[in-house]
Amino acid sequence: MKQRAERKLELFSAENIGGVAALAAECFTTPWSEAIYRRELENPQSVGFACIENGAVIGFIHCNFVLDELTLNTLCVAEPYRRQGIARQLWDAVRSMMQGVCTVCYLEVRESNLAARTLYESLGFAQNGFRPRYYSLPEEAAILMEAALT
Ligand SMILES: CC(C)(COP(=O)(O)OP(=O)(O)OC[C@H]1O[C@@H](n2cnc3c(N)ncnc32)[C@H](O)[C@@H]1OP(=O)(O)O)[C@@H](O)C(=O)NCCC(=O)NCCS
Repeated sequence: MKQRAERKLELFSAENIGGVAALAAECFTTPWSEAIYRRELENPQSVGFACIENGAVIGFIHCNFVLDELTLNTLCVAEPYRRQGIARQLWDAVRSMMQGVCTVCYLEVRESNLAARTLYESLGFAQNGFRPRYYSLPEEAAILMEAALT
């Protein structure tokens, strides 16, 4: 009988950060390097969770915070694992940890990224701005969004 794969969420660690950087490289045209993610392990104003299945990183979320403001930098899930609720679970993990510390979360998303925009709207984010030509590779506008962390 086929065994169900074990899936769990873990805080970023020295053990999973290589997999985090590898997944970022798969999902984005201008990913942060492994060195940057490793530096974030030492940053007390950084929070990241990885979703691990059978030892491999299949999704992650990374945020920074200053005072009561949280910024969602990156949220991604490996292609074969999408539409299984992993992104929502990763956000819920950050939200639970940061409620009481931060009151608001900000993010930017490519205008054409309808999957992410739909996801963020379903998580309670609303558009609060627009930046033309914000992204490169390819050049594209950013939709700015925010959500209350209540
Ligand atoms: C955007 C992304 C993180 C979503 O991850 P995911 O694990 O598939 O998302 P979830 O399964 O938790 O989806 C939750 C909800 O988001 C919305 N959603 C997610 N993907 C969607 C898609 N392709 N089209 C429309 N809505 C989508 C839906 O409302 C979905 O709920 P439903 O499945 O019950 O309809 C994933 O597609 C991804 O990694 N994309 C590439 C990286 C990226 O663009 N990241 C965001 C910018 S930082």
